Amino acid sequence: MFKKLLKKARKKWRLRNFNLFGWRILRQERALPLDVRNICKVAIYARQVDRVKNVPGAFVECGVWKGRTLLMLAALGGPNRTVWGFDSFHGFPELSAHDVKESAEREHFRDTSLPMVQKFLAFNKVSARLIQGYFHDTLPKYKTDIGPIALLCLDCDIYDSYRVCLEELYDSVSPGGVILLDEYKNSEELRKWPGAAKAVDEFCAARSLAVVDGGGKSIIIKPRA
Ligand SMILES: C[S@@+](CC[C@H](N)C(=O)[O-])C[C@H]1O[C@@H](n2cnc3c(N)ncnc32)[C@H](O)[C@@H]1O
Repeated sequence: MFKKLLKKARKKWRLRNFNLFGWRILRQERALPLDVRNICKVAIYARQVDRVKNVPGAFVECGVWKGRTLLMLAALGGPNRTVWGFDSFHGFPELSAHDVKESAEREHFRDTSLPMVQKFLAFNKVSARLIQGYFHDTLPKYKTDIGPIALLCLDCDIYDSYRVCLEELYDSVSPGGVILLDEYKNSEELRKWPGAAKAVDEFCAARSLAVVDGGGKSIIIKPRA
């Protein structure tokens, strides 16, 4: 009797955790856990997707990690938007003197991989072009392929990463397009990732740009003229 129950439980576990071919199904592939933080995040991103509805260009995320925000962008953008995701899928490059080492050690973002994110998106039936590598190598190489950008989402925490993304991609953002800054002067983020705000401030000062409140996240709207 006990043996039978054990066999049944094992079979149930196998069916939940492995696919037809015996490959382990990662929890990450199945679904996005629904919590208040995620609901608010969807609302924040939906507002910006709506803001750029008449702006031509792709959606680009720099800093993908496990692909949760990228999934939102692909779902909200629909089939007519090309979505690009850039990440090392292996954590940060070397930090600069403007970053907090402890933050990068605590949240290292190495617990992901390109195949994991590919499977996660495929499971959710959305597509995005995922490019692996450090931004200073990948962005110069791919910016011509990306073409105009309607929505550029920067979620890459550290000084050099923000700096490279802004320097390489700002000129590709269409007039009226939005740059969403995940870490910018929210007090908690500022304590953990001060380099992000510094890079944004330096870039905006050099180009006379303003960072404005995008309803939950700070944004830069590229001037039309
Ligand atoms: C905060 S996580 C991104 C979280 C993700 N947007 C989400 O919503 O779940 C930051 C990511 O940026 C990536 N990253 C930071 N700097 C990078 C660089 N210079 N090149 C490539 N990836 C980088 C890290 O590997 C990490 O996955």
